[in-house]
Amino acid sequence: MAQLPQSTTRDSFGSRFGVIAATAGSAVGLGNIWRFPYIAGENGGGAFLIIYLVFIVLIGLPVMLSEFAIGRSTQRNAFGAFRKLKPGSKWFLVGIMGIAAAFMINAFYSVIAGWTLEYLVKAASNQFRGTDPQGVSLLFSEFQSSSWRPLMWTLLFVSISAFVVIAGIKKGIEKYTKILMPLLVILILILGVRSITLPNASQGLQFLFQPDFSKIQASSIIVALGQAFFSLSVGMGTLITYGSYIQKKENLGASTVSVAFADTLIAVLAGVAIFPAVFAFGISPESGPDLVFITLPNVFAQMKGGYFFALMFFFLLSVAALTSTISILEVVVAYFTEEMKISRLKATILASIGIAFLGVLCSLSLYNVPEISIAGVNLFGILEYTASNILLPVGGFFIVIFVAWFFKGKLLKAELSSGSRFKIKYYPYFMFLVRYIAPLAIALVFLNGLGLV
Ligand code: PFF
Repeated sequence: MAQLPQSTTRDSFGSRFGVIAATAGSAVGLGNIWRFPYIAGENGGGAFLIIYLVFIVLIGLPVMLSEFAIGRSTQRNAFGAFRKLKPGSKWFLVGIMGIAAAFMINAFYSVIAGWTLEYLVKAASNQFRGTDPQGVSLLFSEFQSSSWRPLMWTLLFVSISAFVVIAGIKKGIEKYTKILMPLLVILILILGVRSITLPNASQGLQFLFQPDFSKIQASSIIVALGQAFFSLSVGMGTLITYGSYIQKKENLGASTVSVAFADTLIAVLAGVAIFPAVFAFGISPESGPDLVFITLPNVFAQMKGGYFFALMFFFLLSVAALTSTISILEVVVAYFTEEMKISRLKATILASIGIAFLGVLCSLSLYNVPEISIAGVNLFGILEYTASNILLPVGGFFIVIFVAWFFKGKLLKAELSSGSRFKIKYYPYFMFLVRYIAPLAIALVFLNGLGLV
């Protein structure tokens, strides 16, 4: 079979490591380090982890590979990709939905990412030292009630993401993620080692790794699937967009496995870094979303060397968040540059202004201006709910349906094998998953998101 044609005018990732760094950078984020540990904590630890792993393999991997195949075969943005594969059809709506989800996720995500910057400064200026649990809670509520600090950090975070994205794929996204991702792995390993060498650490490890299925409820299963989606960055065309920058000579199947593996490993390592510390200092693992911003500073305040570990932790969290927000921003920027024919600079500024505006409203809606709400739910909650529980599952559902039933088999095989360059023995299993297992499971999450099951 002939080599697949590679666009020469389009920017692309320069190396295999660049592809992995950028894509794992997108996947590894607040979802792994902030969300995974507290969700696992609330849902019983070990047993939850097993269910999560099953979902990553049976559903996460096929959706991810589907997005890569759509993106790379068309070398287009999330909207343009469907236009090119099925011109004159309504499939482009899947792309539009992804672009809308990108705006929403980036807005609320940048708010939390902004908090990590505030906490980085708090850590650097040694504000956790000598504080008791009440003091730590006070630090959090004082910050939240400030009329300008959360907004300033959100705006700063949006600006840093824009700075990276303006520089392009090779010279921006790839360049920075290639430095930041290895750093992140080193930091989380150091934190993990520190944590498991604390007295009573084994209790934390037991909590994370010893499955107790009696703690699993029906809702935990659905939560695990939702978390798998969010964590792998699938369902909204982020990986269609990144896939469009992968060179034809790269092995999509191998990249998919590496990225999903890295994402899962970092989530588990985050658990290893957090739970032993939480148990060692007698704090509840079920503290919910506050785990990172209220519980951990307590741990750092009591821990030997806490100053450095706090600094390292919040730096790690900011880096992880940044390599994710740039991928979400790129979804919108790729769409603007290719479909509206405006420059990357203009597209990034335009998209960032929209995200910043929405982000500021989101931030205000949480504490200071709760009136920014619909039917009693604040804007932050509305965006998080709509994007994660409706747009991602619906997007993921249609993406696998598209690949399973509407993507020409010959074209798909050529794409996955890079024009017969690689063996794709996994193909029949992949088809089985995208045809039946993945859409059924996703439909279940979606219906649950709407409260119908
Ligand atoms: N995967 C990111 C995380 O775990 O924090 C969040 C995310 C990034 C979701 C990109 C969706 C996306 F398209």
